[in-house]
Amino acid sequence: MAGLFISFEGIDGVGKSTQADLLEEFLAERGKTVVRTLEPGGTELGHEIRQLLLHSGHVAPRAEALLYAADRGHHVATKIRPALAEGKVVITDRYLDSSVAYQGAGRVLGADDVRNLSLWATEGLLPALTVLLDLDAETAVARRAKTGSAPDRLEREKVEFFEKVRACYLEMASAERERFLVIDATESIENIQAHIRTRVSTLLAEV
Ligand code: ADP
Ligand code: TYD
Repeated sequence: MAGLFISFEGIDGVGKSTQADLLEEFLAERGKTVVRTLEPGGTELGHEIRQLLLHSGHVAPRAEALLYAADRGHHVATKIRPALAEGKVVITDRYLDSSVAYQGAGRVLGADDVRNLSLWATEGLLPALTVLLDLDAETAVARRAKTGSAPDRLEREKVEFFEKVRACYLEMASAERERFLVIDATESIENIQAHIRTRVSTLLAEV
């Protein structure tokens, strides 16, 4: 039996892991075996790559794109595809659209190149459903900072970058309406989860 592959996407702080946790609970209650994972860092090798990407200073844009793709390629080959082959539900916090949105948003690399690199790395694996939590960058940065005060300079820079990333996500979602479920992330945690559960229930009835 084929499994079900679901990804969560959106800028930092939109509520991806909150929603992925709740979806995992819902599926487990229904007797599904769920593999909950993330990128970068869903495997042991990936964990090493995550450290390199997020904690070792500047990485040149092409090298950065290759490292995210390397993490993804290994993740798919050793964890995601085997789980799907066993009929499990795989929920990943970020996947290939993160690379297109973040590495593409800097405008140094072309979005098509970044996407094709990941498609090559994963032998073309795309999720059946991608939940895009859409939120303005200012609110997302404030949620993360939890200060409630006006953004400082660093936060301001983040807001500008995240607005570009957000626009890129929305562009992808409108090009692939079947795969994406776009949800207004200003809604309550409960309402957002209800939208997701409705869509996932429909998908489960189909597999
Ligand atoms: P992400 O995984 O996208 O970075 P998190 O799930 O860690 O985001 O959520 C970031 C913060 O926002 C957390 O403090 C979380 O409790 C809060 N949060 C999540 N969803 C909502 C929501 N719908 N409304 C208000 N706050 C939320
Ligand atoms: P993550 O730990 O999911 O951060 P958050 O909880 O803040 O959403 O991801 C770490 C960072 O890695 C995040 O800023 C997005 C970035 N990223 C990319 O730039 N490209 C990618 O392909 C992936 C998977 C993540």
